[in-house]
Amino acid sequence: MATAIAMDSEAFKAAVRNQWDTSARSWNDHTPRIRAWLRSGTDAMLDMAGVRPGAHVLDVAAGAGDQTLDIAQRVGPRGRVLATDLSPAILEIAKGNALRAGLRNVETRVADGERLGLDGASFDAAICRLGLMFFPDPAQGLCEMHRVLKPGAGICTMVFAGPETNPCITTLMSTALRHAGVPPRDPYQPGGLLSLGKPGLIDELFKRAGFKDVATTRVDAPFRLPSARDYMEFIRSSASPVQQILGRLDASAANAAWAEMEERLKRFDTATGWEGPNELLLTAARR
Ligand SMILES: C[S@@+](CC[C@H](N)C(=O)[O-])C[C@H]1O[C@@H](n2cnc3c(N)ncnc32)[C@H](O)[C@@H]1O
Repeated sequence: MATAIAMDSEAFKAAVRNQWDTSARSWNDHTPRIRAWLRSGTDAMLDMAGVRPGAHVLDVAAGAGDQTLDIAQRVGPRGRVLATDLSPAILEIAKGNALRAGLRNVETRVADGERLGLDGASFDAAICRLGLMFFPDPAQGLCEMHRVLKPGAGICTMVFAGPETNPCITTLMSTALRHAGVPPRDPYQPGGLLSLGKPGLIDELFKRAGFKDVATTRVDAPFRLPSARDYMEFIRSSASPVQQILGRLDASAANAAWAEMEERLKRFDTATGWEGPNELLLTAARR
């Protein structure tokens, strides 16, 4: 049984790696929009983790490195940031982005966040922006971050809150599942977009990993775009679980599902564009 679970989790991670390798370029192309969407949440996350000049910072599931570059600027030339990610392709883009920005204090390492393979007690701070919810075993990911942080070091993670406050995600998922003929899923199923949004769950996982002073802050983060179509373009070109679900349909059936999602998301049209509600959880603690 334990082996079967372990094998499932390895197969799941291989699929996640493959999806992000494939979507790496388009995720990076959307950086200006992602950056605007997550601006205030990212600043708060770096403050809460204690990212300051001279610090050695770990960025887990760094993706194309948008927040890595912010960290590199904050820690300055006397500090360093190590960007880690499961996907070699997206991390290669992060490396290129850092070089182009002239930031020489960024290192990269391909690593599963559940098994970082780094020395213990070696970082002053750690962050993970919209990555931890993809881990099949987030408790193990938090134990790894705890292990590699120095005593007293800070951590802050950003994940999606629950289904009630993330109606765009629930609309995408429910429409995709219905078109694929799959029964509704538990939104808190491990590895899903909303998996860590269950009330109290993330604090509990932090405490079990050994962190002190654990506190979660809810952050309202509406995604403002010109239209619902722009949001759909973002979703279609990123490695979302929706892609996986619709991957089993032929092109015309999948297109019908995408069209219905767009139609349903138009309820968030405003006088000046489109505003999709999103709520995030920032969980901060100390080792
Ligand atoms: C939504 S993107 C976020 C990227 C970046 N942190 C940002 O906010 O722009 C999620 C990232 O998590 C990474 N990821 C998923 N599962 C992972 C795991 N088990 N270990 C490390 N990275 C993982 C993916 O490869 C992807 O780059």
